[in-house]
Amino acid sequence: MNFTADRLLLFGATGDLAQRMLLPSLAALHADALIADDVKIIGTARSEMTDIEFRNFAREALEKYMPADRRSGMAEFLGRLSYHPLDATTLDGFQGLADKVGEPQRGLAIFLSTAPSLFEPTIKGLQHAGLDGENVRMCLEKPLGTDLESSREINDAVAAAFPEDRIFRIDHYLGKETVQNLLALRFANIMFEPLWNAAHIDHVQITVGETVGLEGRVAFYDDAGAIRDMVQNHMLQLLALVAMEPPSDFDATAIRDEKVKVLRSLREVRQGETVTGQYRAGAIGGEAVPGYDEELGKDSETETFVAIKAHVDNWRWKGVPFYMRTGKRLPERVTEIVVQFSQVPHSIFEGKGAKMVPNRLVIGIQPEENVQLSMMAKVPGLGRDGIRLRSVPLDIAMPDAFVGQHRRIAYERLLLDLIEGDQTLFVRRDEVEAQWEWIDAIRAGWAAQGLTPQSYTAGSWGPSAAIALAEKDGVSWYE
Ligand code: BG6
Repeated sequence: MNFTADRLLLFGATGDLAQRMLLPSLAALHADALIADDVKIIGTARSEMTDIEFRNFAREALEKYMPADRRSGMAEFLGRLSYHPLDATTLDGFQGLADKVGEPQRGLAIFLSTAPSLFEPTIKGLQHAGLDGENVRMCLEKPLGTDLESSREINDAVAAAFPEDRIFRIDHYLGKETVQNLLALRFANIMFEPLWNAAHIDHVQITVGETVGLEGRVAFYDDAGAIRDMVQNHMLQLLALVAMEPPSDFDATAIRDEKVKVLRSLREVRQGETVTGQYRAGAIGGEAVPGYDEELGKDSETETFVAIKAHVDNWRWKGVPFYMRTGKRLPERVTEIVVQFSQVPHSIFEGKGAKMVPNRLVIGIQPEENVQLSMMAKVPGLGRDGIRLRSVPLDIAMPDAFVGQHRRIAYERLLLDLIEGDQTLFVRRDEVEAQWEWIDAIRAGWAAQGLTPQSYTAGSWGPSAAIALAEKDGVSWYE
């Protein structure tokens, strides 16, 4: 049953994600009149707070995390909010919560932005209070487990109360504009698809670089490490979007069917195809930053950087490596996908002084949203000793191409889709499980080899072995 929710129940309403992303995103949807006037937002968390106190708390979050020119209609937005304190580990408080939520006219969307250990008791409590009917949908924020087994436990617990078509698993990368633009680029243009295969693509690179360190998330991050924090979800989703077959339709089932086929075709990673690292003290943008151990306050073998050479074993991608790397305390905050095409099969310019550079498509996701295609072109001039060619970029900077359309943060898109019931940009259970299966095998390989992270200086692009991982195939990381 599809419905547009008129109640949004937010667990973890006083948490960091709620302050930085969820409340500002909902306020932005309100400011742009994208949610109906009757939509009410009920926050819940352990802290004792009245409605008024929660509105003040939300106002402070908006003042801190929302640009001043986007805060129009803030008082009316705050008027949509109410709050109910709850200890989700006991059933007692859930009836009171249900009373606070009241009777939705159309439906209720529930967003769990809490520690995953609270998912199961929360779902039991919701069932107990009858907040699991046909007009209720459930949205889960990561991390969805720490391995395949724990993710299955979470998925089973949720499935006991909600069918898959009412479960919305967030991967916020899917809400980013340029990530969706990747689908437009591939499937709304005729130019790329005929070349989008092993016959014409040499390799693909996916980089997610971050300059930040632990950001206070000490316990969570030290348990997760880069592979579970970034690769298992965001990077594998990017890889799946690059590698998937054309879906028959832009809808949740068609797109997710294609992504899961890619995820299931990932070849098990062999020894020597991954490099892990951990940052030590260094400098970023001229500022000294401490090493991971110092930030953590103890020794640790958690990786803050990982590079992987992956393969998608299917007809389209046979033999095309997908190099992925991500890390904290790298020199830049950058997310980009580089599709490196093959060399021309025969160069008529050989021996004429021209150095051929293969075409390359660079899809910049952040901080800049742009698409750049590098092409060979003749350098103007009348040289007698041959023809000079050079690789030149054809650039599309999205903000310039779409002036006046402000860029939205990922959660605005995702919260709107949650309220309206569109699952296209949410992750299905079989995708999450295929992702974990591949990651678990890598981590088991690390454990079997006794692999520990190599150190790298904060502000560098990871351990030198990561450069070597690509270079031994004659590939340089794009910078
Ligand atoms: C989160 C990770 O999922 O994504 C964080 O837990 C990471 O460690 C963040 O910093 C990156 O998101 P974005 O949108 O800033 O690239």
